[in-house]
Amino acid sequence: MQIQILLLLPMAFLLPPGAQAGKIIGGQVAKPHSRPYMAYLKRKTCEGEATCGGFLVREDFVLTAAHCADGDITVLLGAHNVHQDEETQQRVSVQRKIPHPRYNKTSHENDLMLLQLAEPAELTDAISTIPLPQAGRTVDPGSVCSVAGWGKTKRHAMRTSSKLHEVELEVMSDETCQEDRLLQHYYKPPKMMCVGDPAEDKASFSGDSGGPLVCDRTAQGIVSLGKSDGSPPRVFTKVSAYIPWIKKTMRGSQRPRVPR
Ligand SMILES: *[C@@H]1O[C@H](CO)[C@@H](O)[C@H](O)[C@H]1NC(C)=O
Repeated sequence: MQIQILLLLPMAFLLPPGAQAGKIIGGQVAKPHSRPYMAYLKRKTCEGEATCGGFLVREDFVLTAAHCADGDITVLLGAHNVHQDEETQQRVSVQRKIPHPRYNKTSHENDLMLLQLAEPAELTDAISTIPLPQAGRTVDPGSVCSVAGWGKTKRHAMRTSSKLHEVELEVMSDETCQEDRLLQHYYKPPKMMCVGDPAEDKASFSGDSGGPLVCDRTAQGIVSLGKSDGSPPRVFTKVSAYIPWIKKTMRGSQRPRVPR
């Protein structure tokens, strides 16, 4: 088994045997538009199309994982079924990709990225922002949070799902990831969260990369990495460790002047 970042590889057959491209495992279809902050990122890379999740944190900024940076990204907001033209949907191009300056591809540290939208989203019932946690405000182990995404929902599925899926996951102690034979090489407690009870068959997976871990209506984590068989626990970027960088970066970027 190996570590895999949770982006959906464009060609599933490139995955090693026994590994699968990602998804929400063990969850259910979300109530349409119940998570209006969700963003679907369509990425055109040289190998083909890939997808990631993300979430709206200001009308002109989406937060996602830095490992989702490759390619030409289009953001779809207000979607439930991403393969249908829904009235609620707004498609926005990305003006600027701002990966965390200390994102490390090898160690997977600081796996977060802000996407400045070319024009602000028009906030509606189906499109709104999600609050960020206060700096340093962490979530206690044992808390139950949820994650959503358009990744695959079955381990052997060849395609991502059209409809948004969600699953509840328990926040685990740092030791749970530090004692895991594979994750221990990557897990850095002050900046990562260990999520998902190893005894349960519930997890975020590849196509879910960049999506939010929502605890108490706050975006506390970002889907980052996990074992390639999709088993819990999974590692999330700890958003509360990056509040100063997120705020400073958004403040430094003028809002687009012409609203739609
Ligand atoms: C990235 O992480 C690897 C593995 O931990 C380390 O060897 C390397 O020095 C890091 N790179 C930077 C630029 O910090």
